[in-house]
Amino acid sequence: MTTTESAQRSPDSATTPGLRLRGVDLTFQDGDQTLRALDGIDLEVARGEVLAVVGPSGAGKSSLLAVAGGLATPTAGRGRGGGRGNTGGGRRGLTRLPRGHRGGGFQSGNLVPALTALDQLRLVGTLGGDRSRLRDPDRLLESVGLSHRARRRPATLSGGERQRVGIARALMSSPDLLLIDEPTAALDRKNSHDVVRLLADETHENGVATVLVTHDHEILEHCDRVLEMVDGRLEVHV
Ligand SMILES: Nc1ncnc2c1ncn2[C@@H]1O[C@H](COP(=O)(O)OP(=O)(O)OP(=O)(O)O)[C@@H](O)[C@H]1O
Ligand SMILES: [Mg+2]
Repeated sequence: MTTTESAQRSPDSATTPGLRLRGVDLTFQDGDQTLRALDGIDLEVARGEVLAVVGPSGAGKSSLLAVAGGLATPTAGRGRGGGRGNTGGGRRGLTRLPRGHRGGGFQSGNLVPALTALDQLRLVGTLGGDRSRLRDPDRLLESVGLSHRARRRPATLSGGERQRVGIARALMSSPDLLLIDEPTAALDRKNSHDVVRLLADETHENGVATVLVTHDHEILEHCDRVLEMVDGRLEVHV
């Protein structure tokens, strides 16, 4: 096994991983140029593991999340997310994973302006999916430290509070896989640490496989593993 292979294999690969990608390519056609956003990605993320992906702008980090979450169809390769359902690339296209077994990315801007923090979470329960996997919205808000803000709308919450509502909402359906793009981009240092610590706790406690894309190297200490995306390839982070 090469160093790169060992870095891309999760430490707990004996159990079913939360995410497995094999030989995944994602290309875009730009005139007669082919742009390779993802180039032969092999990746496993275990349940209960937080993987951080760092790397320069344009390296392919968001593309990785899009493929892992079933939002983009890989040009080649295949993947399995959430322990159920398969994503198959190539001509057959991608089979969407069942609702509730895919990660929810989150961004504070995606909160519904007219809804209170509690109603943002309740809304998830009205969208269909497996109701038996729904968490109690009140208790979830409590676990992200926001019981006292339950009746507030996003406009009157701080950036860190909005991110925590976003995390809670993403966790409502008990996803097996959580895919998060730059959760701390708009946060100060303390809030960044609080938010990622919370994500790590939830990941460990609930056996979620979490992939977190970030430019913020301060928060890497809370992550179980760090890989670097360089020109569409995953490498050991040094
Ligand atoms: N829909 C698209 N059409 C064409 N090219 C795209 C598309 N989406 C992404 N790309 C290109 O793929 C490459 C990887 O983009 P991606 O968004 O994954 O980068 P990133 O690592 O997330 O960057 P950043 O840190 O700036 O968010 C870039 O060169 C980008 O321009
Ligand atoms: Mg990006």
